[in-house]
Amino acid sequence: MVEFALPKNSKIGKGRTFKAPAGATRVKEFKIYRWNPDDGNNPVVDTYEIDLDQCGPMVLDALIKIKNEVDTTLAFRRSCREGICGSCAMNIDGGNTLACLKPIEDVKGACNVNPLPHMAVVRDLIPDLTQAYAQLRSIEPWLKSDTPPPPDAERRQSREERAELDGMWECILCFCCTTSCPSYWWNGDRYLGPATLLAAYRWIADSRDEATGERLDALEDPFKLYRCHTIMNCAQTCPKGLNPAKAIGEIKKLLAERQA
Ligand code: SF4
Ligand code: SF4
Ligand code: FES
Repeated sequence: MVEFALPKNSKIGKGRTFKAPAGATRVKEFKIYRWNPDDGNNPVVDTYEIDLDQCGPMVLDALIKIKNEVDTTLAFRRSCREGICGSCAMNIDGGNTLACLKPIEDVKGACNVNPLPHMAVVRDLIPDLTQAYAQLRSIEPWLKSDTPPPPDAERRQSREERAELDGMWECILCFCCTTSCPSYWWNGDRYLGPATLLAAYRWIADSRDEATGERLDALEDPFKLYRCHTIMNCAQTCPKGLNPAKAIGEIKKLLAERQA
């Protein structure tokens, strides 16, 4: 698990503590990053004591319980609650993951919950993904083909061609990988990051796509692609078990073969 710690000179203050209800028997502390752009204050960490006997098993269940029953001001994104939409990505217990797939019992001691690291924060646990989405858009993540599809039929692939996309189509664009990547932390304005590069290779590897040369041209850039130094945080942190570093390696290999 990739770990992140607050620097000693952090301006993040100690916030409020919300005590567990009287009679609670299995109390767990959730220490949650709070920041409201409208109140002019520095961020704080609020502590919520939750009775696990009255809560679902996942960290997202605890966040929803806090929002519904303890503190309605807590802000976070979620939708599917089953690891499909990617919206509940956050830093839990030092690692980027999906709150809906993270069992509370896997966290020893207090459960620290922070927004995805190295992104601007919109509020509380909500990161600003504007730049990440713009980068994704820049690689044109859709099928490009001049050949019209067969009349009244889909564009077909063999089983082998379809299998080339395994390990990529499963990506839910949660950006856990991109925000765990040191190269992205330092050069995120120019380096595309693992999530977007995985998406780029997903279209390069698609047998139906006819824009491979154009796609490779667009990636042949010292910053967009070559800032990846194979540090592998991306593969370690991906909650879907994918390996963006491998896809990045495949793009580099294709570019090298093209130059040979
Ligand atoms: S392998 Fe590349 S993309 Fe993945 S974390 Fe390392 S530098 Fe970032
Ligand atoms: S590769 Fe994994 S961590 Fe990265 S965006 Fe896709 S699902 Fe999330
Ligand atoms: S709520 Fe959709 S992935 Fe967690």
